[in-house]
Amino acid sequence: MKIHKAVFPVAGLGTRFLPATKASPKEMLPLVDKPLIQYVVEEAIEGGIKEIVMITGRGKNAIEDHFDISFELEHTLRGKNQNGLLEEVQRISNLVDFCYIRQKEPLGLGHAILRAKDVIGNEPFAVLLGDDIIYSDIPAIKQLIDVYEEYHSSIIAVEEVEKRDISNYGVIEPKEVANGVYRISNLVEKPLPDKAPSNLAIIGRYILTPEIFNILENTKAGRGGEIQLTDGLKGMLSHQVIYGYKFKGKRYDAGNKLGFLKATVEFALRRPDLGEEFREYLKGLKLTE
Ligand code: G1P
Repeated sequence: MKIHKAVFPVAGLGTRFLPATKASPKEMLPLVDKPLIQYVVEEAIEGGIKEIVMITGRGKNAIEDHFDISFELEHTLRGKNQNGLLEEVQRISNLVDFCYIRQKEPLGLGHAILRAKDVIGNEPFAVLLGDDIIYSDIPAIKQLIDVYEEYHSSIIAVEEVEKRDISNYGVIEPKEVANGVYRISNLVEKPLPDKAPSNLAIIGRYILTPEIFNILENTKAGRGGEIQLTDGLKGMLSHQVIYGYKFKGKRYDAGNKLGFLKATVEFALRRPDLGEEFREYLKGLKLTE
C-alpha cells in the first residue's frame, strides 16, 4: 500500500528555546528565512505525501496560519508588485492538504501519534519530527518509503551517535540484514550510555503500520511519565518485524541550541544569495570584548 499520509507531532512546548518560544511555536523558528516546520513539510511533499496531519496544542496557531492563505499580505504584495514574494507566500499555502488535531495535554510522542488514529485509518503512514532537519539529495522520508516498499514493515530512521549523546535518543538493538537495513530485536527509550543496546539512535522519521494504534492504546506511561512511541514499537515487535534504516544525509538536531546554530550557519552558507558573503564574514570574524 502506498504511503500518502504523514503525522507531524507539533504540540511540544519548546522549553529549550525559552524565552523565544514563550508566545510563538518552536516549529516557527527560522533557519535563515524559512521556519523549521516548512523544511520538514517540504521534505514530506518531495517524498510523495499528499496529506499532513498536524498534532498541535495550545499556542500553536501560527503554524496553521503559516500554511493558510494570507489575504492581507497577498493584497499588499500584489499592490507593490512584489511578485517574487507573492508567489512564495502563495506557494506555501498551496503545498498540500493539512488537517489539525489538538493534543490537549503533553502526554508524550506515543499519545500524540494516537490522536491521528481516526484520520489515518487502516493504512501505513509516515511520522516526521520537526526537531530533526535532514539535508540530503533524496528526501530522508522518501528513502524510508523506498525501504518500506521493499520490506512492507515499519521502518525507523537511525543514525550512529557518540556514546555520550546516546541518552538523548531511542536506541535500537540491530542485526544488519542488508546495507544500512537492520532488523530490530529491541528498542530502549533514552538509555544510560552503558545500558544502550547499540550506538544506533532513532531519528525523527518513521514509516509505521496502522497496528501501532491499538498497541499505543495499551501502552503504559514510560520514561518521563509519558506514553513513548519507542515503547509502543517495542510492544509491536512481538507481532511484527520492524526495521531500522541508516538514511543518507546530514541531520541537524534543531531542537537544541547548538544544533540549531549549526543548522543556521550551514543552511546560510549553502544559500546562493548569501553564502559567499557570509563565508567571508565568518573567515574574518573577530569578536570584540
Ligand atoms: C523523540 C523520541 C526518541 C527519538 C527522538 C529523535 O525524543 O522519543 O526515541 O530518538 O525523538 O529526535 P525527543 O527528542 O522528542 O525527546
